[in-house]
Amino acid sequence: MLRSVKITEKVHWVGAIDCSLRYFHGYTTNFGTTYNAYLILSDKITLIDTVKKGFEEEMLSRIESVVDPEKIDYIVSNHSEPDHSGALVWTVEKVKPVKVYASPNGVKALNKYYPSLEVSQIKDAEKIDIGGSSLDFFITPMLHWPDSMVSYLTPEKIVFSQDAFGMHLASSERFDDEMDWATLKSASAQYYANIITPYAKQVETALRKIGGLDISIVAPDHGPIWRDMERFKKIIKHYSDWASGKLERKAVIVYETMWKSTELMAKHLEDGLRSENINVSIIDLKTGKRSDVASELLGASALLAGSPTLNNNAFPSLFDALSYAKGLKFKIPFGVVFGSFGWSGEGTGQLKTLLESMSIEVLHEIKCLYIPDEEILERCFEAGKDLGKKINENSKGN
Ligand code: FEO
Repeated sequence: MLRSVKITEKVHWVGAIDCSLRYFHGYTTNFGTTYNAYLILSDKITLIDTVKKGFEEEMLSRIESVVDPEKIDYIVSNHSEPDHSGALVWTVEKVKPVKVYASPNGVKALNKYYPSLEVSQIKDAEKIDIGGSSLDFFITPMLHWPDSMVSYLTPEKIVFSQDAFGMHLASSERFDDEMDWATLKSASAQYYANIITPYAKQVETALRKIGGLDISIVAPDHGPIWRDMERFKKIIKHYSDWASGKLERKAVIVYETMWKSTELMAKHLEDGLRSENINVSIIDLKTGKRSDVASELLGASALLAGSPTLNNNAFPSLFDALSYAKGLKFKIPFGVVFGSFGWSGEGTGQLKTLLESMSIEVLHEIKCLYIPDEEILERCFEAGKDLGKKINENSKGN
């Protein structure tokens, strides 16, 4: 039998660890993930969320280590996406709860996914008494889907935050204070960039909603549970900065190269940026993933996109990464496009169109025939330097 992890006397983690997950709708999850479910041992025993289909036996086993699953009275679905509801019908058949609760949009989504399931609606700011404790519900639409809500358990002062404040990080540690800060910050930033970025306004609304709560633990649906509130305050501050679109003096160069010409241009652009003390992330899309690009774009002031022309087009990897970034709605002020060509040379123009469709002001378009000569490389350096100056000017007053 697998074991639960005790969070407080009354609350246990009963989720599942998915070490092998490497892909989550477009996002390369290098470190796997967890699907967190929580068991509250109040008079009315309550399960918060379930797990992805395929992990239901793991969850049930952890529940059985604490209580007979048939004693569960309520199941709360804070988020209907199948990584949290995939095991719901199976669990309901095993547990036969008195009620399954979800937000109004959660009821709609769960009814579409699982038509046989009976779900009771919870409204924003509604409270339910679970005997000895109570749960308050705050609907947080688009964090991450329209149905999303967070639950607040009193008197334990625990926020069950579903996707918010989570991270795709499989580990044997269950709590933030068992892990180093650099790992937590990096995994949180990757998760925010790839999942939460388009919903900045909703993040600000949600932060206001939970801002007034007296919180001692934050239990998300993925990754470690936050119980060091000083660290959690730091993550809140990062969420707030990311949501407000706060820019750093940072540029991201993404490129693919055929015979190293475009790569050489990228390196000279990088040198120009560094001459103005700009932090530069450089990603070769031959090996880099679209989600690596997204992670680096969080807070970036510039995106530089480079590709040779191949069969009248920029490389497919550029279209892939840039359309993914466009969907995430990053607010990036400046851009540069560059690349080599042999005869037709459409690639850089296509990249310019793509960047402009992301509301990026493209300051330079540099293309070279076959291989860059010293003049072209000097132009790349100067374009990087010019971009660096723009970033520095733009950062004044930020
Ligand atoms: Fe973890 Fe939006 O699901």
